[in-house]
Amino acid sequence: MARKKSILDFYKMKANKEKVAWITAYDFPMASFAEQAGMDMILVGDSLGMVVLGYQGTIPVTMEDCISHCKAVRRGAPNTFVIGDMPFGSYHTTDGEAVANAVRFLKEADCDAIKLEGGVRVASKIRAIADAGIVVFGHIGLTPQSAGQLGGFKAQGLYVDSARVLIEDALAVQEAGALALLVEAVPPELTEFIASKLTIPVYSIGAGLPCDGQLIICGDMLGLFQAFTPKFVKKYANVAEIITNAFKEYVEDVKTEKFPEDQHVYHIKDTPENFQKLFEEYK
Ligand code: KIV
Repeated sequence: MARKKSILDFYKMKANKEKVAWITAYDFPMASFAEQAGMDMILVGDSLGMVVLGYQGTIPVTMEDCISHCKAVRRGAPNTFVIGDMPFGSYHTTDGEAVANAVRFLKEADCDAIKLEGGVRVASKIRAIADAGIVVFGHIGLTPQSAGQLGGFKAQGLYVDSARVLIEDALAVQEAGALALLVEAVPPELTEFIASKLTIPVYSIGAGLPCDGQLIICGDMLGLFQAFTPKFVKKYANVAEIITNAFKEYVEDVKTEKFPEDQHVYHIKDTPENFQKLFEEYK
């Protein structure tokens, strides 16, 4: 069994130009598959709101949802670096509230780090959480919790003005004490520039190759999330099709009595005559 990695391992991987592969997971089975596959880290994203809870966005996701799913993931992947994603509203008021909620991810769900969205405007929250001794991952670019302000789930930094904002955000995240940065849905040219300006590892989800590793959402890459597929997703499987076909076959088998077969039932250990006598008693 591979040793659980720490943030120092991710710095070594950066120095050695070894890419980090991470994925989202929200439950025990997905986490255990990720660990068995040798995933470097797992994000318990608030995307769980869309992928497993059926919301249209991430806004309704609560701290209780996140903690509960982080616990399940930790049970499934005890030897993998797990990042808890701070949901909307859990770090948006005071620095104190941000620290208190970040602490819950470590104390209650045994996470190794937390992630939160935003740059300049959340710098004081990042500083406060980092000062509490917690590993913070920043997240800039397409930040789904601000999809309303961004006008939807749209690529960011396509023009010089918005690219400048993202560069300032990236610098602010590092300056505030985050130990890694995730950049979402920006052009690779900008990712490369940001990665060259920072000393902390920079990871991409939809931000191209020139950085220290890639994140993908399990529901997207497995074909489990059907509402839409972002341009940056590579589909590795169509699990929804496999599951639906299995369910259809089961329905058919039940209706036609092809299931259960003899191998799926328990056989009596007493004699048939004794069972007959028992049934007679109740006639
Ligand atoms: O919640 C999540 O899965 C995320 C990714 C979109 C980066 O934050």
